[in-house]
Amino acid sequence: MKILVTAGPTREFLDPVRFLSNRSTGKMGYAIAEAAVARGHETVLVSGPVSLAPPAGVRVRRIVSAQDMLEAVRDELDAADVLVMAAAVADWRPAAVSGEKLKKRSNGGGAFQAADGRATLALVATPDILATLRPLKGRRTFVGFAAETGDPQEEAGRKLRQKGLDLIVANDVSRPDAGFEVDTNAVVFLAPDAAPEALPLLSKREVARRLVERIEQMRGGAQNG
Ligand code: CTP
Repeated sequence: MKILVTAGPTREFLDPVRFLSNRSTGKMGYAIAEAAVARGHETVLVSGPVSLAPPAGVRVRRIVSAQDMLEAVRDELDAADVLVMAAAVADWRPAAVSGEKLKKRSNGGGAFQAADGRATLALVATPDILATLRPLKGRRTFVGFAAETGDPQEEAGRKLRQKGLDLIVANDVSRPDAGFEVDTNAVVFLAPDAAPEALPLLSKREVARRLVERIEQMRGGAQNG
């Protein structure tokens, strides 16, 4: 199979030195790309800014913002059988990007306004990559992730349906041993018309291996091109 994986955070700049982002380190997405190559799949990784070395045998495209990620994924999707969106895409970006470093006091009409010890930053939505590319899905398998601090299964179930996914990997990021920055994860695989599959606490490598195996099963075996 040809597998396209996204990983890491995106950065949404407000001026040349400042950005909005999140705690994603890319570990889960990189582990998925590594597991996919180990199973013999042709693998492309679209990665936000992370400090990880790219897994051997994976073609990597580095991007910065959500908009960049959308464009890179759109480019690569045509040739892919499977899209795994493990990236933590920022949902908001500053409404304008200043070419100059913003001053502590600013009333110049940009996205950032500050006076008297208070400031506001105007934000606009970034593109929802899965939603935008849904019309191009065809026979491809789309896999999403849901990092939640509430009930992971309930929220992930909603996203599975709303985004029209074939599989979603739900995890509770409020646990200290799962989610951001750690090497372990405790996830549940949710698919339409299948019972939830809750995995125990495992290394992200092992979660990745089982996810690739599950995708192979969904597509009818590893040898289907
Ligand atoms: N995602 C995406 N484009 C975005 C945001 C998220 O494609 N702009 C993908 C993520 O990569 C993930 C899935 O959608 O696979 C769920 O992401 P999440 O941030 O949990 O969901 P949101 O759609 O942002 O919903 P909410 O803010 O309600 O949690």
